[in-house]
Amino acid sequence: MTAPSDKRDITFPSLPSIDQGQLDEAWAEAARQSAEYAPGERRALKERIKQLLKEQDAVLVAHYYTSDDLQQLAEETGGHVADSLEMARFGNEHPASTLVVAGVCFMGETAKILNPEKRVLMPDKRATCSLDLECPAEPFARFCDAHPDYTSVVYANTSAAVKARADWVVTSGIALPIIKHLATQQEKVLWAPDRHLGSYVQGRTGVDMLIWPGSCVVHEQFKADGIKKLHEKYPQAQVLVHPESPADVIALADVVDSTTGLIKASLNPEVQQFIVATEPGIFYKMKQASPRKTFLEAPSGGLGGSCESCLRCPWMAMNGLRNLARVLETGDQEITINEDVRRKALLPIQRMLDFAKQQRITMKDKGNA
Ligand code: 13P
Ligand code: SF4
Repeated sequence: MTAPSDKRDITFPSLPSIDQGQLDEAWAEAARQSAEYAPGERRALKERIKQLLKEQDAVLVAHYYTSDDLQQLAEETGGHVADSLEMARFGNEHPASTLVVAGVCFMGETAKILNPEKRVLMPDKRATCSLDLECPAEPFARFCDAHPDYTSVVYANTSAAVKARADWVVTSGIALPIIKHLATQQEKVLWAPDRHLGSYVQGRTGVDMLIWPGSCVVHEQFKADGIKKLHEKYPQAQVLVHPESPADVIALADVVDSTTGLIKASLNPEVQQFIVATEPGIFYKMKQASPRKTFLEAPSGGLGGSCESCLRCPWMAMNGLRNLARVLETGDQEITINEDVRRKALLPIQRMLDFAKQQRITMKDKGNA
């Protein structure tokens, strides 16, 4: 990819492009995980996993984009299904000595950064994220060095090494309040790697931001025209959009928020139909909470990151019952992080968690919690 530049002619490093081979590899593993079960196999796997979690003092934390099976299992075993911010908080507060993180690699790494004394396992730690791939640590560090008057804010969807170079880490659930806070300090922000979330936050705050040009292969696919057409068919529907989506899709939204924020919005008793622009794994929780409501997938271009007919994240889809059972048996997908990198990466993550805590206290004080 050629190095893009922003309006001020600031040149960004060339980003590695995501090649089809990487996506095909993820889809091949996803297909192995979701291959049809022999009679009784699914139930047996679930029972085996439940037993292994108990034996190993382990707790399962799953992202909303994982399969219904994994979300169900996390709920049934005293674990948690959450967005990336809440996954980090839960793992940090839970007493289990092993955290099993069903999601993508940055989520496992965040758990390990916060809990160095715990064993952190993932069903498959090759499960990555296009944002992480498009923001390698070295060019990012060089870009920070070239702009020392900017506060660096990185999205959680980055490697531990990138976090180690950042001043702040944010998730989609807390990006806006943190950038608003930085605005009150007159900070200029170097933002990486999601350009759509960055532009959205920039538009809402007016902060001077240098925005790294990465994107999510899933959310990038949503198409404003398709959403408009679907809305004409369902004029009563609210449009819920994750802020990793392009600006023209965000412009159509009734609600723009993190995965947790979108699930909360779907509880609105006044609305019965929703057009949802995010990864469809989220429908498990939405339908569980509101079984009588209609949830429609926002139309996409059907290209690139996801299979032709669906918007599943290829890396989230690598998590399955089969590799979850295997990792609990073998322990082979353990997350390890260089201690120096871990200590450095902890600072901006802790800054975010402390800020979130402070915000919650403030909300409670105002009687809004
Ligand atoms: P959340 O922080 O909303 O969970 O999003 C993580 C993610 O990867 C979205 O694509
Ligand atoms: Fe990364 Fe997009 Fe997958 Fe989220 S949905 S993990 S941002 S590739």
